[in-house]
Amino acid sequence: MLNHQKDKFSLDKDDIYLNTAYMSPLLKSVEKVGIEALQQKGNPYKILPNDFFEPVTELKKLYASLIGTKEYNRIACIPSVSYGIATVTNNIKLNSGDEILVVEDQFPSNFYSWKKLAETYNAIIKIIEKPKSGNHIAKRWNEHIIEAITSKTAVVAMCQVHWADGTLFDLISIRKKAHKHNALLIIDGTQSIGAMPFSIDKIKPDALVCAIYKWLLGPYSFGFAYFGSYFDNGFPIEESWCNRKNSEDFSGLTNYNDDYKDGANRYCMGETANFISVPMATKAVEQIIEWSPKSIQEYCFEISKDALIELQKLGFTIEDINYRSHHLIGIRIPDFINIETLKQQFNKHKIYLSIRGNYIRVAPHLYNSKEDFNQLLNCIKTII
Ligand SMILES: Cc1ncc(COP(=O)(O)O)c(C=O)c1O
Repeated sequence: MLNHQKDKFSLDKDDIYLNTAYMSPLLKSVEKVGIEALQQKGNPYKILPNDFFEPVTELKKLYASLIGTKEYNRIACIPSVSYGIATVTNNIKLNSGDEILVVEDQFPSNFYSWKKLAETYNAIIKIIEKPKSGNHIAKRWNEHIIEAITSKTAVVAMCQVHWADGTLFDLISIRKKAHKHNALLIIDGTQSIGAMPFSIDKIKPDALVCAIYKWLLGPYSFGFAYFGSYFDNGFPIEESWCNRKNSEDFSGLTNYNDDYKDGANRYCMGETANFISVPMATKAVEQIIEWSPKSIQEYCFEISKDALIELQKLGFTIEDINYRSHHLIGIRIPDFINIETLKQQFNKHKIYLSIRGNYIRVAPHLYNSKEDFNQLLNCIKTII
């Protein structure tokens, strides 16, 4: 098992930061390359034409290996999930009455563009609700999603792990059913890529969009979008000079070229070579690959398991182990607990996490320990 890695981060020693699903801290190594990259612009002659292209290609290759594909040219660098999803929806045509399937309480960046697309084509947004009571909620939710995919479904747009409660979705089975009905599968991987294994080759999504400031330990305003062959001939939402063929030839940039570069390179954001974010993202993804998402998952399981058992004894509800992630854990608060009082206790004890509805959302990483979970448990016990 991996060791505790808090010394690799600048987090305060005594704080218990359990909120990676909100925003991760930066690795010290990533801070360092970021500062060096910032300073490089003090001497702009050091930034060479090649630096507009090669570091981005190297980063795409790294990210491709993390998500289980060799096709790094299917990856575009994007500023946000909303940008990636807008790129996707701008390249989909629907028929009236087609269904776009989403899950309940999906993150807004993976909802509004779908709503707009549905309005454009008189299509229907079908929200698959989370079962409200009973046992095995996440299992039943997965079953309802699979049942809801029919010949009317044109798109399934969802995530691997639900951002608010940690429900794990069975993307292999969902892909299988979507495939049967020729429906596209579009995934927002922001709350899982980096912390949980993902394989493009196995899941075969038509697009996988991901911001990197959470589980990829990267800077804000940077992300990746993988596009499958459905999007090979689409249009970007902006026309960057970098995305055209021969843009490497700086002396011929005004020999305007009608051809986009191959694969997903047409979808890259303007100024994609961001000389600060690219080296930071590269350093962060290298470290994640060295640790491996599988090992991060195992570590989070090991440090959390005993405290979760204790919390269940106290009346909190936690999903079946096969239907939840270990890095983003939704702990349902029993009715007898006052949520405001609970929040105050967390603040007082400097335990940083999120409350989403009636769930405590605990999102650990390698900077957390079993002791952090003991303290979380003890903090909750003070109000029971
Ligand atoms: C599931 C999910 N997707 C996307 C985002 C961020 O979206 P954007 O990059 O559009 O700001 C978040 C942020 O919390 C999220 O939880």
